[in-house]
Amino acid sequence: MYCRKITLKNYRNISSAEVEFSPGVNLIYGKNAQGKTNLLESVYIFARGRSFKGTADKDLVKNGESFFSVKNEYTDSRRENELFILHSEKKTKRFANEVKLDRNIDMISRFRAVLFCPDHLGIVKGAPSERREFLNIAISQISRDYIYLLGDYQLTLENRNALIKKICMPGISPSARASLTDNLSVWNEQLAKYAARIAAKRKEYVEKISPYAEYIMSEMSSNKEKLRIQYVCDVQNPENAEQSEKDYLKLFEEGTERDIACGSTQKGVHRDDLSIKINGDHLRQWGSQGQQRTAVLAIKLAEGEMCRQYTGEEPVYLFDDVFSELDAERKKYLISGAASKQYIITTCEENVDFGNAKRIKTENGCFFEE
Ligand SMILES: Nc1ncnc2c1ncn2[C@@H]1O[C@H](COP(=O)(O)OP(=O)(O)O)[C@@H](O)[C@H]1O
Ligand SMILES: [Mg+2]
Repeated sequence: MYCRKITLKNYRNISSAEVEFSPGVNLIYGKNAQGKTNLLESVYIFARGRSFKGTADKDLVKNGESFFSVKNEYTDSRRENELFILHSEKKTKRFANEVKLDRNIDMISRFRAVLFCPDHLGIVKGAPSERREFLNIAISQISRDYIYLLGDYQLTLENRNALIKKICMPGISPSARASLTDNLSVWNEQLAKYAARIAAKRKEYVEKISPYAEYIMSEMSSNKEKLRIQYVCDVQNPENAEQSEKDYLKLFEEGTERDIACGSTQKGVHRDDLSIKINGDHLRQWGSQGQQRTAVLAIKLAEGEMCRQYTGEEPVYLFDDVFSELDAERKKYLISGAASKQYIITTCEENVDFGNAKRIKTENGCFFEE
């Protein structure tokens, strides 16, 4: 699939713009703070449903204005489509091919994109939460069920934690404490059910993405680096959801006293992680900056490949400010893979050679095609 055109009104520092993209490589260049990332963010908002920077919709409105709108005209393997987002009077409305959508979630898994930005180095270097976020976003792109499961799990976890907080309240009578503790079993059962399903999906995804990432890493490193990604969770056989539901239930039940002492649920899929190794060593601890960057790139490209396999649609690849950090060999590898893909690349470098890329200059929230 590819994005043909983005039309923006009052989006961050962009008053009004229409940007047409080529189905191949697009280079958005310009000095700092001109609006390159804002443009890329506005494309990705249709894949994630919200800003990848975590900005609330109301803060995407250009300072001093009362609304913003973004239209994405894109082509997938079946037809030409249009998605539209309008934020005004504190509300965000979403439309797909001019039909109003009830919920944000209804917009996801229509326009598919893979984003790669400098913060994604956190997938290898950062906290487990960054790896879980990577998994959640990647799997959400290919499975709407997974999005619902995450929402159900989160809600149940909040309910369980709220009950734990009540149990921990100072001065609570032993009988009240015992009866509230009994009530935990309802949440334990629900949490175990959702945890088992989420873990099964994560395990399946990681098992599939790992060989692709390994292959890409090996290609980019002249076969020198062997990348291995493994899913790390609290149960032995996450692929067997039936069994792991029982295991999670046991974990929650046996962990009750500990959770009460800590004031929140200490085990579960909200604590999952990924183990990312290179030639047998943990990349986070032992990898060089170059290896880490290459691994993130390999993982992101593999995410795109997974999206293509699961959905039959080639996603749009968005690279924010990462090209300048890559060496010539890796740049060449990326460009060689671009033949059948749409790339939208932002960079501060004006004189980079991207073959016959479409070049779009950015200046003060305005875009000029060359
Ligand atoms: N809601 C907003 N209203 C107006 N300007 C904004 C808003 N949000 C961000 N900006 C401005 O957008 C500019 C950054 O744009 P960005 O796309 O990140 O730049 P770059 O070209 O370096 O990628 C900054 O000058 C910032 O102040
Ligand atoms: Mg930028």
